[in-house]
Amino acid sequence: MKKLNPAELKMDSLAVHGNAGHDSHAHAVSFPIYQTSTYINTNFGHEIDFSYSRCANPTRDELEKTVALLEGAKYGFAFASGLAAETALFSMLCTGDHVVIGDDIYGGTYRLSRNTFPRYGVEFTAVDFSYPEKVEAAIKPNTKFLYVETPTNPMMKVCDISAVAQIAKAHGVKLVVDNTFMSPVFQKPLALGADVVIHSGTKYIAGHNDTMAGFLLTSDEQIKDAVTFNRNTEGAALGPFDSWLVLRGIKTLTLRMKKHEENAIAVANWLTKCKAVDEVFFVGLDSHPAKNIVDKQCTGYGGMISFTLKDVSMVRHALCDYSMIMFAESLGGVQTLITYPLTQTHASIPKEVRESIGITDRLLRLSVGIEDKDDIINDLASVLGE
Ligand SMILES: Cc1ncc(COP(=O)(O)O)c(C=O)c1O
Repeated sequence: MKKLNPAELKMDSLAVHGNAGHDSHAHAVSFPIYQTSTYINTNFGHEIDFSYSRCANPTRDELEKTVALLEGAKYGFAFASGLAAETALFSMLCTGDHVVIGDDIYGGTYRLSRNTFPRYGVEFTAVDFSYPEKVEAAIKPNTKFLYVETPTNPMMKVCDISAVAQIAKAHGVKLVVDNTFMSPVFQKPLALGADVVIHSGTKYIAGHNDTMAGFLLTSDEQIKDAVTFNRNTEGAALGPFDSWLVLRGIKTLTLRMKKHEENAIAVANWLTKCKAVDEVFFVGLDSHPAKNIVDKQCTGYGGMISFTLKDVSMVRHALCDYSMIMFAESLGGVQTLITYPLTQTHASIPKEVRESIGITDRLLRLSVGIEDKDDIINDLASVLGE
């Protein structure tokens, strides 16, 4: 067999074959799980590729190279969770540094930016990244990062990545994009000018609601060196078996994303007609205020929908009483999940901040799975009515 050149592969093939394609040692079709903590030093006095699995592990290495290829990055780092990846990034900062961060972000990222890192003297300013001019106005001489989710969790706000990347470059700051909601299948922030991509790999990349993982992707040498040091020192690298599970999940990433999207379009359109529903937030609807930006910078709409109910007294019923859809706190997996941001993903955000963003007691978030779309809609209709 000739050597695989992953750089020549299109997304569907890249997802299936990954970086190495297969195991070159025993010629196994499935890349092996190197379930080891340490390695024999066969070259005394010289640097070796694998010495200790916190620093590097062949299964994780294959995963990191595969995700880097999918995102168009030179370097990839796999972590034990998305928050571990974010921690390694923010650990680059020093007392007195400043970050401009999106005002609508995952609750755990909120905690890192309002509780953990401010204790070490790092300052954060929250801004709505739908407005690049507001982002620029918030930049200070000590700003190091612009940090944004797009679309945001859970309000589905969209940032024009190229516009904000230009601002970042003009001010000499780094743009970090959390690409969890779109996955590299539908959005490639580095190609749009971002410097770093973050993923909760727990979500679409792993894809089966069975593994935690996080990723940091970059082509920036300084960031690569700093993150290599931080991860080795903080110790939150992904283990070999989880790395293999994520590698297996990635093989169907492109297929899954297309099905998530197809189902989400049908569900979002159904929700807009459902009498119990007030507002629907989905980037694929013509009514979404930034649909033109999504059409410009993405190749799909993803599978995430948020919506509000007209009547708050329906909330318990609208979360708990389905036969297939599960009331659970995650997203991006094959099963359709419904989430209550108020008490789950965004519970740690203070009430006044939450309400100013739109995270009210009537807001529900739906991660549309890859089941038959009629089954999803019928299950919703059985609880919400037509
Ligand atoms: C957009 C986004 N980023 C980051 C995270 C954190 O990832 P993890 O739960 O894998 O730590 C989450 C978790 O829900 C998320 O939704």
